[in-house]
Amino acid sequence: MNARMQAPPATPFVDASGQKARPPHIWKPLLITREMIEAEVERLASLPRPANGKRIGRIIHPSAGPGMGLSPGTEVSLQVLKPGEQTSFTRTNANQVELCLRGAGSLLGEKSLRLSRQSVWTVPPMRPYAHRNDGQDLWVRLTYSNAALLQQLGVIYEEDDVEIRATETESDGLSEHQRRTYAWQNAPDTPLTPEGARLRGYEYLTDIPVVDNPPLHWPWERVDPHLNKQVGDDLRTILLLYHPATERRAGTTHSFFATWARFAPGHPPFAGTRGHRHTSMAINYHMQGHGSSVVDGERVHWKAGDLLLSAPGWSEHAHYHGEEGCTVLTIQDHPMHIGLGSLLWQERMNAPILALGMESGQTGYTGPRKPGE
Ligand SMILES: [Fe+2]
Repeated sequence: MNARMQAPPATPFVDASGQKARPPHIWKPLLITREMIEAEVERLASLPRPANGKRIGRIIHPSAGPGMGLSPGTEVSLQVLKPGEQTSFTRTNANQVELCLRGAGSLLGEKSLRLSRQSVWTVPPMRPYAHRNDGQDLWVRLTYSNAALLQQLGVIYEEDDVEIRATETESDGLSEHQRRTYAWQNAPDTPLTPEGARLRGYEYLTDIPVVDNPPLHWPWERVDPHLNKQVGDDLRTILLLYHPATERRAGTTHSFFATWARFAPGHPPFAGTRGHRHTSMAINYHMQGHGSSVVDGERVHWKAGDLLLSAPGWSEHAHYHGEEGCTVLTIQDHPMHIGLGSLLWQERMNAPILALGMESGQTGYTGPRKPGE
């Protein structure tokens, strides 16, 4: 059979007629213990320095495809630098939030940040950055990134050895007349239906308003005074590390929020037996304390230094801390879901499912909780 006689390709259609509503595929929780993290730190530190200076241990969930993340859209990695080491300058379209576990160092870029233990900071997309260990100890950090999602979409952009200085670029060949005439300020913006549908010029898509997104830093010593110190005080038990660039999406980056939670020693743990659920996934790093989480009926015990995929998206989960309370950094891909309009929240399993951002949300269960609440 020659090329002209080949059979037509199989149809790309799959029959879905009458198909029932699809259930979500919910991943299992995954615990990465302090001992596993410490062993990986030692392994990474023992390697010869890689050419780009990056010593990275990526955490891959057993349900993930090759090279994917700890959750379907979130890549989490352990990164180590020895004293005096620096990575090459990089830029990527992924957004990142980082937590310093040990040592101290600097995020280098247009604006540099000096970072120490328990600090949290962001690395915005498409800004050249590098990390330098300018301390005496190993610099160890956890990096949370939406690179896993971008990989699945086939659109991850990563560039090493980036020059910080501006490079000369070729002209796009447009005349000054074209630039002025076909800018969004002059583009059509036409009401189409009484209900609100409009027609707009393409300029609105190619020159969207810019919201400044610098790297920001939440030093632990500045956050700590705002968190619960004693049972019954009026300080909050959970606070959001808010970056104004995320606007109503209430994030630390465009994909993730980070919260610090602290329950003082002696604070009674959650009294319920059933949990809650949300479509955003949650990853907890336990800085202090011990306890357990029940995730879709499976109890997982955790202690200080453990990382836990504690709430795969839409899993029912509840957390129970021990008598010495707990301090926990939680990362959730909540802002991404707000942007998509897909953020569902069900605070009690027999309560309504709320579409956050599109109807009145959940109130009344956070705040300075008193004993017994
Ligand atoms: Fe939750």
